[in-house]
Amino acid sequence: MPAISPLDGPVAVTGCSGFTGGHMVRELVIHGYEVRACIRDASSWRGKDCVDYLSRLPRVEIVDGCDLFTAGSYDDAFKGCAGVFHVAAVLGNSADGKSQPLGTGDVSQDVYDGGMVGTQNVIDAINASGSVARIVYTSSMAAVSGAKGATMPKGYEWTETDWASDGVDPERWQGPRNSYARSKVDTEHLINRAADSSGGRWDAITMNPAMICGPILFKAQVGQWIEQIGRLAGGLDPTWPSRYDMYYNIIDVRDLVKAHRLAAESPMDHRATDGGPRYVMHGTGGRSAIRFGTELAGIIHEYFPSYALGKPATVTSHGEPITVVSNMVNDCKKAKEVLGATIRPVEDTIRAVVETSVELGIIDPKLTQSA
Ligand SMILES: NC(=O)c1ccc[n+]([C@@H]2O[C@H](COP(=O)([O-])OP(=O)(O)OC[C@H]3O[C@@H](n4cnc5c(N)ncnc54)[C@H](OP(=O)(O)O)[C@@H]3O)[C@@H](O)[C@H]2O)c1
Repeated sequence: MPAISPLDGPVAVTGCSGFTGGHMVRELVIHGYEVRACIRDASSWRGKDCVDYLSRLPRVEIVDGCDLFTAGSYDDAFKGCAGVFHVAAVLGNSADGKSQPLGTGDVSQDVYDGGMVGTQNVIDAINASGSVARIVYTSSMAAVSGAKGATMPKGYEWTETDWASDGVDPERWQGPRNSYARSKVDTEHLINRAADSSGGRWDAITMNPAMICGPILFKAQVGQWIEQIGRLAGGLDPTWPSRYDMYYNIIDVRDLVKAHRLAAESPMDHRATDGGPRYVMHGTGGRSAIRFGTELAGIIHEYFPSYALGKPATVTSHGEPITVVSNMVNDCKKAKEVLGATIRPVEDTIRAVVETSVELGIIDPKLTQSA
């Protein structure tokens, strides 16, 4: 099978201005790879911050102008590469017309197309390269469990054999609320079909992470879950996905990108493994889910006892208590057994988010009266 090593030539990473993409480049460089870092727009605020960070890493060539919506825009970046780590995705921020200039402006459509149209462009560039032997695609737990969590029996353990689309009412599945999960499911199938029809020239592996958290390398990476953890530590209440308390299903970004690299370097036929060429990356240090307003806040309090923390809401505006249920169980079992992935304790992950949020001036914690 086409295992990749730093001796085989450069590798390319898509979506390098993002949280996972930036960490992917760092992980590969540290392990001796020459990296083509694909970014969409080096002149955007995010692009500039990313270029500033990546320029300080050795063996990184920045390739600007790689847009998922532009056919051929990855061709130069992939030429001569041994492998591709396809991390970029449209994540629902396209409505403002600035951050997703080539999208339709319909968020759910752009999210779906970012996966399907964008990845077809990535596949075409792999085929055109004549050199790429393996792609590692960053999918999501959304392609495994999707919105089915609440319908499964308590303690159900999600595995690589689960697909978010299985058993879901087809009309509901096609709805805009499922566009992200649908994009991830369909894109996984698209990549696998393309790998099969490459006649053995390249193969494909998929990683399925839960909520990606960990240290922030540059300011423009802030968003999603790490932003909310920073808000909590900075004395502010959560704003996304709502102001309410919830369970966090965390995977550390450092463990995740290491698993991507190990998958690329493994000589095995990933298709022959249980559940096929995909790896659930969910469950951190044996803990699948931690409650934001109690357990996660408790970890922050333990390491930073002088901080006055934010408080997620636990009652509705009508005074009704909210129900907070966790139905996600996992411990990256297959990734550990098959790839040798290692998963650090969730305390390390939370501490790293808070420390780097302070270090980069993202939050300015308020101190408790007693401190
Ligand atoms: N965050 C999570 O908890 C989570 C969980 C499961 C799976 N994932 C998956 O992990 C991957 C990385 O997510 P992340 O959280 O690290 O995301 P992120 O920080 O928002 O980064 C997304 C990246 O995709 C790029 N991108 C967006 N639209 C693009 C386009 N049209 N053409 C080219 N690049 C484009 C962004 O570039 P710009 O800076 O130019 O916008 C950015 O570099 C994604 O595939 C995501 O679906 C994330």
